[in-house]
Amino acid sequence: MLYSEKVLDHFSNPRNVGEIEDADGIGEVGNAKCGDIMKMYIKVKDDVITDVKFKTFGCGAAVATSSMATELIKGQPISEVLKLTNKAVVEALDGLPAVKLHCSVLAEQAIKSALSDYYTRQGIDPKPIVGEIEECEACH
Ligand code: FES
Repeated sequence: MLYSEKVLDHFSNPRNVGEIEDADGIGEVGNAKCGDIMKMYIKVKDDVITDVKFKTFGCGAAVATSSMATELIKGQPISEVLKLTNKAVVEALDGLPAVKLHCSVLAEQAIKSALSDYYTRQGIDPKPIVGEIEECEACH
């Protein structure tokens, strides 16, 4: 089996799909090369992520990793969320095929982008936390 059961589960039954109308932060990232787009909405209270939802126009691995990532950050303080890496999300899913590893970067970046937006709305300079999106070489 190419994909773990957890990946298949999160792909066929993704958690936290949708949008939050009165979100405190919205992040949108995309990969120009493969065309995948990810949008992440967060609600924040007392520096804790109280709710998160995502929408993606992307591949199965992008859906599964975003679903898992939203589960991992819900209820967590921002300080912990900032430490979440795509590697940790992939590990929580029991791995991804090597050629799909890059897809997990979208979720991490979308979360950081949403936090960046949150910080902007709070009047805090968000630039240091947003990294570059990796190129999606393996999809082509
Ligand atoms: Fe999955 Fe590019 S993000 S194919």
